[in-house]
This record gives sequence, structure tokens and C-alpha cells, in this order.
Amino acid sequence: MRLTAEQRTTFDRDGYLFFPGLFTPAEVATLNDEVPALYARRDAFNVREKGSDAVRTNFAAHMVNAPFARLGRHPRMIRPVEDLFGEQVYMHQYKINGKMAFEGDVWQWHQDYGTWLNDDHMPTEKAMNIAIFLDEVNAFNGPLMFIPGSHKRGVIDAQHDLATTSYPLWVIDDGLISQLVDRAGGRHGGIVSPTGPAGSMILFHSCLVHASSSNLTPWNRVSVYLSLCAVSNHIRRHKRPEYIAHRDFTPIECLPDDCLLNPQPIDLPWAAGMPASALETSPTDFDTMSA
Ligand code: SIN
Ligand code: MN
Repeated sequence: MRLTAEQRTTFDRDGYLFFPGLFTPAEVATLNDEVPALYARRDAFNVREKGSDAVRTNFAAHMVNAPFARLGRHPRMIRPVEDLFGEQVYMHQYKINGKMAFEGDVWQWHQDYGTWLNDDHMPTEKAMNIAIFLDEVNAFNGPLMFIPGSHKRGVIDAQHDLATTSYPLWVIDDGLISQLVDRAGGRHGGIVSPTGPAGSMILFHSCLVHASSSNLTPWNRVSVYLSLCAVSNHIRRHKRPEYIAHRDFTPIECLPDDCLLNPQPIDLPWAAGMPASALETSPTDFDTMSA
């Protein structure tokens, strides 16, 4: 899938593109079928909500599960990003966020690149998020909220919030969010929420300011997020475990467009378990360590 000139202009202006229903119900079913077993695992890569057994986020499913590994190499997800960056990308992070019925907690206002810079020493913002809805996302079940155009501000000051939810996040303070929303149009477009059927895809800039509310509805809002980084922009330190911030900078090679429905065997590097090295972390840049 290639982007049109109009889509590129929209992406540059707003910081995101929305593709409702890009994956078919049959394709989405191949992924949804795998989620309960993945979420049931008592592994480090399942982060549960504060005070609840519901999974908030599952990391690195592409390393252990065949359908999710195929999705991680799907041309509908990878090609548009290669187009925008003019180079190949590697998988920096892979998440299946639960936002489960009644249990799904908030994601505070943040930019993803803030975390990738502060924690992983990713040199520039040349990285992208791609989300796929595995459930319908509507106005009620905690849709993503974006401040259109906020990516143009570059990296915004953030504080490391270790308390609000079960997952540490670099978050932006309310005063600055109010200003950004005002500048983006206030009540007239200052916040937008792409909503749509399962199978919809969002591509959004790593500096786009975003958040989501809790899910008080009886409807799950499971979504997959691929964070794709330009190979030349790979991270420089391993402060976080490898299942959160990946260390293999090999360019992703796409599979055929029908790979979900016509599956071929695929390599699953952590099928037999995560290597101990994936849990080793260091506060020092690995470039300087070897110097
Ligand atoms: C995220 O910002 O990484 C997740 C937000 C969400 O799933 O609502
Ligand atoms: Mn985010």
C-alpha cells in the first residue's frame, strides 16, 4: 500500500492518517483468536492493570506467536512508513493493548518519542506508530485522543509518572495540554478520536500528543501497536528490557498481502522462551561502552 500525495499532505498537517476497515473481519479473526492465550500467560511481557488481573499491555507477541509475527511484517502496515521515511524500518516495540471492558485504565497525555528519547536514547523522531483495532472502537470504550498538529512542536517537556497507572510513562502537564488543544482549535477540532470497525488502522507521528480515557463499557478495546523505527535511527542504549525496546535492528522484510489468510511458516525467535540476555539492562549507551 502506497500513500497518495494528498495523504502525505494530511499526515504532515495533522500528524496522523486513519484507514477505516483496512483489514477484513476474516483477517482480524486470525489475530483475535490468539489474544486470550497470549493474555493468559504469566510472563514478564504481560503488564496487568493496577489492582486487576486484566492485561493492560502485552509486549513482543511477534516474537512468540505466528499470526502476530505475520502482522508485524504486513505490507499494509510497513510500506506506508517506508514511504514516509524513505528507508527501511525495524521493530522498536510491539504491543497488544487490552483496554478491557470495565477494567481498562487511562493512558495519560504523552508523546511516544519522549519515552524513546529519554529511556532508549533514540536519536531522532524518525519512528512511527501504527495501530490496528482488533475490536470496534467507539466514542465510549476509551478511543485514542489526538491533538492534531501537535507533532510540529517536537519533543515537549515531560515528567516520568510512575504512580498513576501500572506502567511508567513520560507525561505532559495539564497546562501545556490546554494550550496545545486551544491552538489546535479548542472545542472545534482541538481533540480528535478516530473511531471505527475492527480492522481499522491508524498511522501516527511519534511526536503526536495523545491519550485515552478508561473503559467503563462492556466492550473490550483491544488494539495492536507497531512502533517502527528507521534503521539509521536505532536506539543507543538498553535501559529497558528487550521485550519492551527491541535490540535487533534488522530491516523488516514484508510478507505477501494475503499472509494472514494464506499463512506460511514463520520464524518465532522466542517461541521456546525469552533468552536471559533480553532481561539484561544498562544505563550506559552501548556505543560508548565499547569505546
Ligand atoms: C499508547 O499511547 O501507547 C497507548 C494508548 C492506548 O492504547 O489507548
Ligand atoms: Mn503512546
